[in-house]
Amino acid sequence: MCHVNCRQSLFCNFLGLQGYIGEIKQDFPAEKIGGFSCKKQQTFVFSFIFEKNCQPGESGGKTAIDGRKTKYKQMNKLSNIEIAAKFIKEGKLVAFPTETVYGLGANALNPLAVAKIFELKERPSFDPLIIHIGSISQLKELISSTDERIFTLAARFWPGPLTMVLPKSHLVPDIVTSGLSTVGIRMPGNEIALELIRKSNCPIAAPSANKFGRISPTTAAHVRKQLPDVDYILEGGKTTVGIESTIIKLTDFGFQILRNGIITQEELEAIIPFDNHSEIEKLSAPGMLKSHYSPKKKLLIADSSTKEYDKLKAGFISFSGKLEKDYLKVIRVSERKDLKDYAVNMFEAMHVFEDDDDVDIIIAEPVSEKGIGKAIMDRLRKAEYNWRQEL
Ligand code: TXA
Ligand code: MG
Repeated sequence: MCHVNCRQSLFCNFLGLQGYIGEIKQDFPAEKIGGFSCKKQQTFVFSFIFEKNCQPGESGGKTAIDGRKTKYKQMNKLSNIEIAAKFIKEGKLVAFPTETVYGLGANALNPLAVAKIFELKERPSFDPLIIHIGSISQLKELISSTDERIFTLAARFWPGPLTMVLPKSHLVPDIVTSGLSTVGIRMPGNEIALELIRKSNCPIAAPSANKFGRISPTTAAHVRKQLPDVDYILEGGKTTVGIESTIIKLTDFGFQILRNGIITQEELEAIIPFDNHSEIEKLSAPGMLKSHYSPKKKLLIADSSTKEYDKLKAGFISFSGKLEKDYLKVIRVSERKDLKDYAVNMFEAMHVFEDDDDVDIIIAEPVSEKGIGKAIMDRLRKAEYNWRQEL
């Protein structure tokens, strides 16, 4: 992601083992990016993030290390996961990384622990939670269906960003599903999350680790900003997918999509048919509501019907690289114009502008609603919904 202050960061992430390498400074000719003049010196920050070795009750923190001094703090990732697992076993809340966004987790089989999620997130009790599992045997315990399609989809897409809404077993507490007879389940594609589930020895119920209706977190810092009182934050660097999982429901005819994500309808259709016969069940849950993912500042999708606003006070989330020149600040979400980068960097861009005092309004560039574009436009529309009502 290119910030207008000309800082470029590359995040490397392998098996959640991350560390900050350092900075390289390089001279470039003065250049204008999105109305912001870059000075001659551009700074490229090549960053890994090392996990901080925390004590119980202490949140993990980004260990900012100056790579030029080649000084860094050693970490013990395993012990952090063990500490987090201890919190889960004690019925406490742990924010943890998944490949999509950070989750706010609790033992899914402990109703009192799950109740704390709703309280801390200020989430209405009618909005059910997704359960995160680490094995297929855990899946079998939590559902009451033996439909072969479930296991075919699991074999193809798990661990990964696909949630299946399935008939629940008696083991799943009603508070998790908000009284529904179905439960959303996924096996996250993130080693830290999987290890946490294994070490906790229970499935973990987790919504995204943000306050209800607000921007989803893609870094531990985003979690800390919105949920400073969480019992423990397990660091895992920036998430690699950036938007929440695709949610599907199986019907007699095939599958329906309840929430678009990076796993597209086309990919799912290669395995089982898309059901366009039955009506999509309307669930009055916030994820399905028109407003969600909302920054504190006004966000609008740039289009011809957008009324006049002061571009000199606007932060622009740019994808194509066009239209940038008039805006006060610009974040280019993809240098190679790849929609996956838009997904990875979209929420982070919203967080950056939300925190930037110079920016009064956030304008996001729309993309065509094909493939991953559907999921991106879904998030942008929900983020702008309330603000557009005011125009
Ligand atoms: O990628 C993700 O899915 C992230 C990470 C943390 O796993 N989780 C996430 O959870 O996005 P949350 O709570 O922010 O969104 C879950 C959505 C909600 O809109 C909820 O209504 C829906 O899933 N959901 C959960 N159980 C459901 C069910 N039984 N039937 C229909 N929708 C369900
Ligand atoms: Mg959410």
